[in-house]
Amino acid sequence: MKLITTEGPEEFATIAATYLMRKVAEKPDLSLTLPTGSTPLGLYSVLRRARRGGDFSLDRATVFMLDEYRDLPTYPEGSFIEFLRQHLGEVIFNGSTTVATIDPDGPPRDYDRALDDAHGLDLAIIGVGRNGHVGFNEPGDDLSTRTHVVTLHEDTLEANFAGVVRRARPTQAITIGMPDLRNARSILMLVSGREKRGVADLLAAGIVDDGFPATQLLDHDDLTIVMAGELLRER
Ligand code: GLP
Repeated sequence: MKLITTEGPEEFATIAATYLMRKVAEKPDLSLTLPTGSTPLGLYSVLRRARRGGDFSLDRATVFMLDEYRDLPTYPEGSFIEFLRQHLGEVIFNGSTTVATIDPDGPPRDYDRALDDAHGLDLAIIGVGRNGHVGFNEPGDDLSTRTHVVTLHEDTLEANFAGVVRRARPTQAITIGMPDLRNARSILMLVSGREKRGVADLLAAGIVDDGFPATQLLDHDDLTIVMAGELLRER
């Protein structure tokens, strides 16, 4: 595992973008996952700028979503696909990028098939939830299953739908499973956000803890963690 700690959001975004751009330069037709959340927003803004400047494209790539809500009352508002349209629309929806979307109502096996057709993931770019979830592989889930339906934990709903009334929240999601993330040729794990100190400590120390799914990826052969430096500072 390679751990890169960064000083400030700009450095965080630049390092993540440089990593991705190198991977795309090596293999323009790579298959990769892109995460939602606030963590990758700086990265996506760098990618939009680079795309506009003609320095970067994902035109030959296949993008996989990590997860999608299943019973989101406001769908598509608040969904993963809407997030991608909003933050990376001009990068992945205006060109010829293949975007493998998860059908929230479809059978999970369809997504496994799409992953198999792409010969698995070249690169899994993932964020980490405050409870250590990856995609929506929550603590306590069966981490040996491929794409599957999960019941969202209360703390995940609180984190992702703060201020949203219960009847407008989903209860379930469909997520890529840990086996496909583990089998990715390379993993770029992005960790930022004050509330993630617990999982950040474990990751930085290289400690695998069953209660934190992200730590299950620590023994991957090609794992790079980009972590906001303030998470490891004295507190
Ligand atoms: C959601 C997503 C995860 C993401 C996490 C972290 O729960 N399913 O894939 O990593 O949020 O979000 P944030 O970056 O906002 O902390």
